[in-house]
Parts: sequence; C-alpha cells; structure tokens
Amino acid sequence: MLRILVCVSGGGTNLQAIMDAIDSGVITNTEIAAVVCNNAGAYALERAKNKGIPALCISPKNYPDRAAFNEAFLEEVNKINPDLIVLAGFLVAIPPAMIDAYENRVINIHPSLIPSFCGVGFYGLRVHEQALARGVKVTGATVHFVDNGMDTGPILMQKAVNVEPGDTPKQLQQRVMEEAEWKILPAAIDLIANGRVKVEDGKAMII
Ligand code: GAR
Repeated sequence: MLRILVCVSGGGTNLQAIMDAIDSGVITNTEIAAVVCNNAGAYALERAKNKGIPALCISPKNYPDRAAFNEAFLEEVNKINPDLIVLAGFLVAIPPAMIDAYENRVINIHPSLIPSFCGVGFYGLRVHEQALARGVKVTGATVHFVDNGMDTGPILMQKAVNVEPGDTPKQLQQRVMEEAEWKILPAAIDLIANGRVKVEDGKAMII
C-alpha cells in the first residue's frame, strides 16, 4: 500500500480528485496518510477533515526565517514518513533537504504543458493569464517529479486541452482542471502505486 502525503495551499480540487479516485478504484493500492497545508484558511483543509484524513497546517509565516521553516517542515514530513509526496496546488518551495531525502518520491501537478508557462512566477491563474496573453491554441497540464529547480524535474504525464475563443483565465483554468489535472494526477499516483514508473537518467518512464 502506497502511503501518500498530499500538500495543498488553496481550494483543494486536486486533493478532492485524488480522494474520489481512491474511493472509486481509479487509484488502487494507495492511502492518504496525511494532508499538509500552508494556509490555515484553505478549503482544502475542510476537504481533508470531511474525509477524516489527518491534516496539519505549517506556514513559513510562523517561522523567523526560511531555514527554520524548512527544518520544521522536513521534521513534520519525516514523522509522517510517506512513500510519495504529492504537491497538489502547493505554492511553497520544497526545501532542498526534502528533495534529497525523498529523491524521485515527490510529484507535482502544473497547469500547463511544461516547458511552456512554468518556472518562477507561474502558478495558479497566472499560468492561464499568460497562456491567453500569448494566444496559444492548446495548453494543458503536466505531472512531473520534483527536483531542485522550479518545474524542471522529469515529466511523467501530460494532457493537452484546447483554448476556446473568448476564454477568460478562469474558464481556461476550469477546463484544464476538469479535462487534464483531475485525470492525470490520479492516473500518475495509480501508476506509481503499482510499480509502473521508473526514473532513469533524468527521465520518467511508464513501464
Ligand atoms: C491547480 O491548478 C494546480 O495545477 C496549480 O494550482 C491549482 C490548485 O488548485 N498549481 C500550480 O500552479 C503549481 N505551480 P486546487 O487547490 O483546486 O487543487
């Protein structure tokens, strides 16, 4: 049984998609050991509570500096000792020591087709604003392993989504979530839980 830790910051619709996929059997061989959130007011915490999943809030705001936060964050994660850390809309940089300790065991969902519209400053609605400003006709979502760069780790799954004429950033965000994120994130977890993913030479492969 793969024990996952899901890290969230906001609404938690990806967390919900993971919980629903476990309930419906789309994700097998997996349990959510805990949810970690950096924002006490996030609705994602309600979603975890409603499901009886242990949830914990830890924010850089409550520490004197980033080093102190990073240390406390890693300590909490080590207590949970997950097999896989899933960043599901988690908007805090993962401490380098955590990347080292959990090498190839941290995945992230990003709301674009990496390497487009990713890196520093590209998160949430901003990604869709930039995609619309550039006038792309196709966008999508990516699940990738997390390394020490920003959105630079090995790509595991991607799904394309059409941009429709007249889309607002919010409409595009919703379509990317419904058609891509809520599908490929659960699919990626199921593949990992069933031993079907290998990372070699900086590339992720489905085997
Ligand atoms: C999702 O669209 C996710 O892809 C994005 O934040 C949103 C969280 O929504 N993540 C990033 O932009 C990471 N760079 P949710 O809280 O409803 O799952």
